[in-house]
Amino acid sequence: MAEITLLIHDLAAAVTPVGSGPLRGRVFGELLVHSPASIAVAGERILAVGSPEEILGTFPSGSDYESVDGRGKVALPGLVDCHTHPAFLGDRVAEFELRSSGAAYEEIHASGGGIRSTMAATRAGSEDDLRASVERHLGWMLEHGTMTAEAKSGYGLDRETELKSLRAIQDAARRNPMDVYPTFLGAHTIPPEFDNAPEYVEFVIHEVLPEAAPLARFADVFLERGSFEAPETRRYLEACKEYGLALRLHADQFSERGAIPLAIELGARSVDHLEATGEQGVLLLAKSDVAAVLLPACGLFLDLPLPPARLLADEGAIVALATDFNPGSSFCESLPLVMNLACTRLGLSPAEALCACTANAAHVLGTEDVGRLAPGYRADVLLLDTPDWRYLAYHLGGDRFAATIKSGQIL
Ligand code: NIG
Ligand code: FE
Repeated sequence: MAEITLLIHDLAAAVTPVGSGPLRGRVFGELLVHSPASIAVAGERILAVGSPEEILGTFPSGSDYESVDGRGKVALPGLVDCHTHPAFLGDRVAEFELRSSGAAYEEIHASGGGIRSTMAATRAGSEDDLRASVERHLGWMLEHGTMTAEAKSGYGLDRETELKSLRAIQDAARRNPMDVYPTFLGAHTIPPEFDNAPEYVEFVIHEVLPEAAPLARFADVFLERGSFEAPETRRYLEACKEYGLALRLHADQFSERGAIPLAIELGARSVDHLEATGEQGVLLLAKSDVAAVLLPACGLFLDLPLPPARLLADEGAIVALATDFNPGSSFCESLPLVMNLACTRLGLSPAEALCACTANAAHVLGTEDVGRLAPGYRADVLLLDTPDWRYLAYHLGGDRFAATIKSGQIL
């Protein structure tokens, strides 16, 4: 048996999603609660989770390992943020103020602002600036308990800046203990030097994708009026798939434009947003293996209608939650806040919200060894300084961690 390196002992409880893989339908929100509990860790992995007596019986004290006193604390899996945009420069605070006096997000975008204003700021900076920016943003996420994150490019929209963004994500990830999965969001919107979406998509496929693909795990696109329609989206995603990238879509944010059937046909991992999805779309998605990634902080930030979260969950869709951290539509890096919104606005239970940003988010990223506290999983552990794990969702904006442990290392 592997040698124990860390013992988290005498916890009030250790709480984890049950089973393995994504949790959907009847088991969505099903948790295994060990109470009281100890967790034995060997190197980067969890060796065992069980009652303190059981763990002490198997791994007697006195040998040479680190100990963490878990009394009065609750352990949860490190959180997984499966949708973020940390690679940008500048901000959108002026736009935020405009929106506070009634300007609409889509109008700002149509008049050349929005994503394009962040694109201009991002193009103007150096690769070092971008790396520092991603590093700062990942640091904020980690402070809120995120230990695994996806990170998109998409504010360059030219060859040089898209590649710079993906390299900046990789460099920043090396300087942060989190696991980071880069996504090539080459089709975020149409940059001003192109007249139309099909022309821009051909440019991306021929001039950017061949060098971007080796730097990323996923490809993503914004399928929406004013950005890309279904035919261009299909062309872009099919090309990305040929380069071995797994597919994601931003879609149904403001309008339904055929994203769900397309995502299912192409075998995408997820469709993200879904504020405008109707019942038919829900039923299709629920029968498929494409996950529904809900972004309630974005909905709050832009005052969008709520996505059909309850129906998706009840019909058996794979439901995940994410922050959508970005400067324009969701300047929010906190998954605990997202969990609160999922409970207060989307009708999910705290247990469903936890599954949605641990096990199910890990599934979206194709990384099945995080998101649970179970033998063999990566030892990513959040120790809450509260008597009840549900405080993570309940305490609005007040996540209190006694300790965070990433890959078996106390941070
Ligand atoms: O997920 N919807 C498209 N992309 C981002 C927003 C980007 C921005 O406004 O800068 C999103 O909401
Ligand atoms: Fe997004």
